Amino acid sequence: MRPATLCSAFAIALFGCTATSALDLENGQRLSERWCASCHAIGAPTARKNYVISFAAIATKQGMTPEVIASFLMLPHATMPSLPLKQNDAQDIAAYIMTMKK
Ligand code: HEC
Repeated sequence: MRPATLCSAFAIALFGCTATSALDLENGQRLSERWCASCHAIGAPTARKNYVISFAAIATKQGMTPEVIASFLMLPHATMPSLPLKQNDAQDIAAYIMTMKK
């Protein structure tokens, strides 16, 4: 098990695991399934209707970077509810989203 994975699995609940942890795609995926999948298609694009922009489409947008996504997530925004994410969680989710870039 990678240290970062260990960190997210155990340490966040106990002491919070912040700046030092490396990007953790598994954490990003888990958080996305929990917090984002109700609105965004997070895996492969789906034919299902009424979804807002899919993660795959976000990743492919012109000029999109993990930094843009992470800061979007940390700031209040009008069209989407603000979610209680820590900075490193936002970065993990951003990294996870960017893996879908084609
Ligand atoms: C309640 C529904 C809802 C949830 C939950 C939600 N979103 Fe969104 N999200 C939206 C809407 C609506 C938009 C605006 C889409 C638009 O304007 O095209 C949006 C936009 C975005 C954008 C900007 C896309 C762009 O076009 O630049 C990102 C990035 C994003 N969401 C990521 C996330 C992530 C990551 C999560 C989970 C942590 C999440 N969203 C959870 C509804 C939601």
